[in-house]
Amino acid sequence: MAVITCIDDLKRLHKRRTPKMFYDYAESGSYTEQTFRENTTDFQKIRLRQKVAVDMEGRSTATKMIGRDVAMPVALAPVGLTGMQRADGEIKAARAAEKAGIPFTLSTMSICSIEDVAAHTTDPFWFQLYVMKDEDFVDATLERAKKAGCSALVLTLDLQILGQRHKDLKNGLTAPPKLTLPVLLDLATKWQWGFEMLQTKRRFFGNIVGHAKGVSDASSLGSWTAEQFDPKLDWSKIARIRDQWGGKLILKGILDEDDARLARDFGADAMIVSNHGGRQLDGALSAIRMLPKIREAVGPEMEIFMDSGIRSGQDVLKALALGANSTFIGRAFIHGLGAMGEQGVATALEIIRKELDITMALCGEKNVHDLGRHNVLLPTGFLDEYA
Ligand SMILES: Cc1cc2nc3c(=O)[nH]c(=O)nc-3n(C[C@H](O)[C@H](O)[C@H](O)COP(=O)(O)O)c2cc1C
Repeated sequence: MAVITCIDDLKRLHKRRTPKMFYDYAESGSYTEQTFRENTTDFQKIRLRQKVAVDMEGRSTATKMIGRDVAMPVALAPVGLTGMQRADGEIKAARAAEKAGIPFTLSTMSICSIEDVAAHTTDPFWFQLYVMKDEDFVDATLERAKKAGCSALVLTLDLQILGQRHKDLKNGLTAPPKLTLPVLLDLATKWQWGFEMLQTKRRFFGNIVGHAKGVSDASSLGSWTAEQFDPKLDWSKIARIRDQWGGKLILKGILDEDDARLARDFGADAMIVSNHGGRQLDGALSAIRMLPKIREAVGPEMEIFMDSGIRSGQDVLKALALGANSTFIGRAFIHGLGAMGEQGVATALEIIRKELDITMALCGEKNVHDLGRHNVLLPTGFLDEYA
């Protein structure tokens, strides 16, 4: 591919260069994938208002996320098994984020460990926690994140039980992959991936293997989740974790107005309006459709981030116009990583930054803080089609 101009170009390369098992893991939703699809198609329904003859010089995409200066209102979302999309993937993505001046969030289910990412970066990153039944493991993990200098905890609330993703079962997803005949045949055409993977020792769940007690098989996400994730997670347990952590706390996976009010009243520093990229409750509404209702429910002061479906700077602008302070991206950066490693993540971020900047100019805006409802046109009934 000669010139890369959009996230879709990176997605095509990602598909070509990464084992099918891991590409499919990223590019899928749960069950019928309705919510996964609507996360992106709902963005396309939102239209932008063109404004002309407005001075567009001196534009800025810079803002703050929970008090931290960021070059644009975008952070890298926690993505499990990032180090299987490309060898040392978490370190590569974290470095690209650092260079772009935006936060990186490390998943509990990462391949590179907390300490490893800290050793290879200079900016403090954010750590995402899945709450496990084993409280000692949770406490030890929080201590490790604190010691590594992580500056915020992203607590994921929407995956205490795994929504089924058919492709992962059909492909026999594990990390590292089991070398069956179909996998070997697939790897034959993905030689660069295999070559890089042979050069690294980071091929297992780095935060878990050697840290969690009595883990029988940490290679399969499905069985591990079923065994270890705490189905009893509720607000009292969230309070325990908040106290244990003692630092900035972002609650991830809010998709309902009542839950949003609870998160606000709980005193979280921010919340992420998200349906986990359509990977959990299939049939839930898209995050962008729920965002304006949630903003209305919690009022103007609460810091709201949004993810699920963002594939362009235009999408970032739409999210900000509908009430988000900032956004997270998952697949958009994973496509970059799978396509071209660290350079691919940098390319994805630069594509999104430029799209946001130019689209802001064409909307007659100079500053991300000025974006609002006046920049978008919504189809009739978009906000109250479902009641
Ligand atoms: C392959 C993949 C793995 C993910 N793993 C995690 C995870 O470990 N922890 C978490 O909180 N969210 C995880 N997510 C959800 C993302 O953080 C984010 O909510 C989602 O990707 C946003 O949707 P988008 O991919 O359309 O941008 C994952 C998403 C993908 C695509």
